[in-house]
Amino acid sequence: ASAAPAADTPADRGAAIYAAACAVCHDGSRQPPFGGVSLRLSTAINASNPQNAINTILFGLPAASGRQSAIMPDFGATLSDEQLTDLLAYLREEFAGRPLWPDAADRVAATRSGDYHVSVRPADGIERGPDNIGAQDR
Ligand code: HEC
Repeated sequence: ASAAPAADTPADRGAAIYAAACAVCHDGSRQPPFGGVSLRLSTAINASNPQNAINTILFGLPAASGRQSAIMPDFGATLSDEQLTDLLAYLREEFAGRPLWPDAADRVAATRSGDYHVSVRPADGIERGPDNIGAQDR
């Protein structure tokens, strides 16, 4: 039997991830605090490197204490490094219309391992997240 037609580019695979995990909030029809902006407007997706996008997707945006704020779940436990890299390819192509970030895979790995330290802060500026999610042995 022949294999089912496969999504064969990173962006194709990323499109399926976006549809399943991100579109519910980022398709523009949901209001804050759970509704995210259209990623066409995202500085992270239009930036010269993918670090802010990686940080946001891996660690999410925690709630601020005592007042309403934007909230995004973290996807560090959900997405593999390869899936996140595919997703970044899709986001870049679809929402920025710019060349893919050549260093996306390296930055994903360095961020998840904790080599690249990320502080996770909600809008009130107080760090609450773990220093990193460096659960991987290297
Ligand atoms: C529960 C709703 C929700 C889900 C699911 C969600 N997000 Fe978000 N996201 C938000 C909110 C709220 C913000 C903060 C407000 C904003 O900038 O849109 C945000 C911010 C972002 C930003 C930063 C935008 C910027 O430049 O300011 C990126 C990038 C992003 N999300 C990507 C994703 C991706 C990729 C997924 C799927 C893996 C995802 N989000 C899933 C709600 C969500």
